[in-house]
Amino acid sequence: MTAPKFHLGWFLQESSIQAWGKPWTGNIDKEWADASLFKVLAQELERACFDYILIEDGGSISEAYGQSLDFALKNGLSVPRHEPAALAATLLEITSRIGIVTTLGTYAYHPYPVARIIATHDLLSGGRGGWNVVTGGPTHPNWGLNEVRPHDLRYDEADEYVEAVTRLWDSWEPGAIVADRENGVLVDPEKVHHVNFEGKHYQTRGPLNLPALYGRPVIAQAGGSPRGREFAATHADTVVASLNSAADMKVFRDDIRARAEKNGRNPDDVKVLFLASPILGETNEDAAFRHRRQMEYIETHIEKDLAKFAQSTGIDFSAMDLDAPVEELHTEGHQQNVEQFMKHAAGGKTLREAAVERFQNRWQLGLIGTSAQVAEKMGAMMEEVGGDGFLITLPDMSRRTIAEIVDGLVPELQRRGLARIEYTHERLRDTLLEF
Ligand SMILES: Cc1cc2nc3c(=O)[nH]c(=O)nc-3n(C[C@H](O)[C@H](O)[C@H](O)COP(=O)(O)O)c2cc1C
Repeated sequence: MTAPKFHLGWFLQESSIQAWGKPWTGNIDKEWADASLFKVLAQELERACFDYILIEDGGSISEAYGQSLDFALKNGLSVPRHEPAALAATLLEITSRIGIVTTLGTYAYHPYPVARIIATHDLLSGGRGGWNVVTGGPTHPNWGLNEVRPHDLRYDEADEYVEAVTRLWDSWEPGAIVADRENGVLVDPEKVHHVNFEGKHYQTRGPLNLPALYGRPVIAQAGGSPRGREFAATHADTVVASLNSAADMKVFRDDIRARAEKNGRNPDDVKVLFLASPILGETNEDAAFRHRRQMEYIETHIEKDLAKFAQSTGIDFSAMDLDAPVEELHTEGHQQNVEQFMKHAAGGKTLREAAVERFQNRWQLGLIGTSAQVAEKMGAMMEEVGGDGFLITLPDMSRRTIAEIVDGLVPELQRRGLARIEYTHERLRDTLLEF
């Protein structure tokens, strides 16, 4: 068996001041507002023929850690951050092939504006828009949602939500714009339909006020829990996942594919991309040194990592003793993360120990070495998993580390026939379905 050619995506996470306080980020504290680093990222990743960039979002400044804004503000924890749909439009404007997938939460918008925004991205870019569906955390006080919205209920709502959005995208038949000058008809009313969607949680009459000319834009999702995986397998064209070993990745992908098939879909239409954070060096020793530096960083920044974890789970770790064993945790937020964390905490480990292990886990896939070594490992991993690719994310994103991926790792992957050397399609959906 030879390793399949695989897809590459990029997970653009956290603040617009990426990697604040990390080396090689220059004057990012002054330059962040015009998003120049993100523009460089998009153009460089397009040069490397990435399928897409997924722009993460949470929408608010987290108060989960210490029940206060202080920690997030002082440490630049996902703040300041541009609104992702507006940022996506900027990135689509300066690129021509790469997809830009925008995170828009079901808590934050009604389905109608989401259908409109993503269809507009798709139209403005010739078919490169995409929507990352997230249900968000349990409460959203900025939206006036103060009551806890239980995890599985949020997914039930989201099922309905996606149906409403896709029906809006389908509300114009192909060829509805007839532009018949002789009879003075621009749009044929016979080809544009109300959707009359009457769900339990959402209603929309439709039609959308513009056609999805390139068909349905791409849907991405990151469902880790069984309910989340079912949701992803039902709706998503690309599923993004965070796993710690090739064996777990294989189980996850097989599960998504089986669920997709059970839902009457072709499993090959669902591309599963796995989070990866390679550490590259000019030599093995160089990479090992940089890995050690990352490790040292967590030991002095444990609170920062726990605050990030608090953000996605709503659990206030600041109220717990760092040096006491971790008690059973429950969340209505990111359940897969908590489940993994409890594995790190097993055997009476303290919060500090479990947090360090959680951080170290980021490099559990062992993608540390020279570009050639890491490319080999990625190939071997995909061979074991069966596909479909990686979603690169770097905790220290800078022009330097972007170059390491684009001009170091990717050419090594390309030489091995593992990564695309050119785009053969213009639309994101076709790019994803190419192999
Ligand atoms: C790669 C990846 C990206 C994600 N991006 C976001 C995001 O931008 N915004 C958000 O609210 N949640 C995001 N999530 C969380 C997921 O949408 C989802 O809530 C989470 O995976 C928990 O799913 P589960 O409760 O089904 O395990 C992301 C998760 C992963 C693994």
